Amino acid sequence: MAKTGILGGTFDPVHNGHIACAEQIRDEFGLDRVLFVLSANPPHKFASDVTPAKIRALMVNIALKGHDGLSLCDIELKRPGYSYAADTVAELVKTYPDDEFYYIIGTDAAVRLPDWKNVGAVVDGCSFILVKRPGESAKTAEKAVAALESIGAKYYISRSENLADVSSTAIRKALNRRGNNPDEIPVPAELSLFIGQHNIYSPRRWTTGMILQDLESVLNPRRYEHSLGVAEEAERLAGIYGADPGKALMAGLLHDCGKNVSEGQLVWIGMTKNDFAARPGENVNVRVLHGPVGAIVAERRYGVSDPEILSAISKHTTGAAEMSLLDKIIFIADYTEKNRKGEPFETVRRVLDEKGLDAAIRYSCDETIKLIIKRGEQIDVRTVEARNAALEHEES
Ligand SMILES: [Fe+2]
Ligand SMILES: [Fe+2]
Repeated sequence: MAKTGILGGTFDPVHNGHIACAEQIRDEFGLDRVLFVLSANPPHKFASDVTPAKIRALMVNIALKGHDGLSLCDIELKRPGYSYAADTVAELVKTYPDDEFYYIIGTDAAVRLPDWKNVGAVVDGCSFILVKRPGESAKTAEKAVAALESIGAKYYISRSENLADVSSTAIRKALNRRGNNPDEIPVPAELSLFIGQHNIYSPRRWTTGMILQDLESVLNPRRYEHSLGVAEEAERLAGIYGADPGKALMAGLLHDCGKNVSEGQLVWIGMTKNDFAARPGENVNVRVLHGPVGAIVAERRYGVSDPEILSAISKHTTGAAEMSLLDKIIFIADYTEKNRKGEPFETVRRVLDEKGLDAAIRYSCDETIKLIIKRGEQIDVRTVEARNAALEHEES
């Protein structure tokens, strides 16, 4: 029976602190191996510009060369959607039924354990090894222990201190300032060479190809196909109505990039769902959230700065009283892209062909409002305003 440690992380980049921590824990607890489980798509970094998972994996492999018992575990790279520890632990237990698993966790992460998705599966599959930070107060450690006990976890407290405290963020910033010059950056020599040669941490521009690849790993396959459909349709409509086809394509691609962000995840960008309400203090229907949240993701994760593109992404779920041509195109392309079958999509397509954008917007708002009433949900006032504005434009 092998004793296997699990050290999860984004590893952007992996550094000496991670390696030293893994080796100390390995020796202290007599582990046969420590798996560096790369979080391919960490849910708390949904709005961050994270280095592509394959490159981070490559960096872990380079850094761990020659370190006994330490290796990369890339199972999260093979799962689409957000990476959750519960799925990973369940998969590891299934793959290595004879292993005993130890989840290595810092106090700060341990405090938040009760909020982890399906944390019961993690507790069932492994014990925890709690690692304190250097100079940490006894109070923080107590909180972490209380959190572990509240979820019924089996745990050990490490005598070592958490050297993974060197932050990857600080390393990235330093590399950026120094033009990727990796001297004196606390990563293994071979990795530092790799980072320098390939300019991994230069400020980068997302190409359309890179965005496509990232979206494919973040969205489910149906949502991804739909996004491609909206991009194609938006580009077509831009040609007809005289909007910028490049902007239409980009807004179409990214319009649903905030789709899977949960209310809970908004904590990570310091917001709550009601920050996205039409008016302060108003309740907001969660279905419309992914519009404005998507605009934030597009800006922070994919570096989109064009206000027209961001506005079109933001408004696509509700519409608005004031809509630019691009806003309207994305709003409608969401209904008329080729993967949408049946009603009300067929009629929106027909109205668009026969009567144009404003008529199509009014019709789709009408249908949305009827549906929301049928569901007994709250109607977003912006949809009513979009509908009335479209009606006025139609009549004039
Ligand atoms: Fe959407
Ligand atoms: Fe959509």
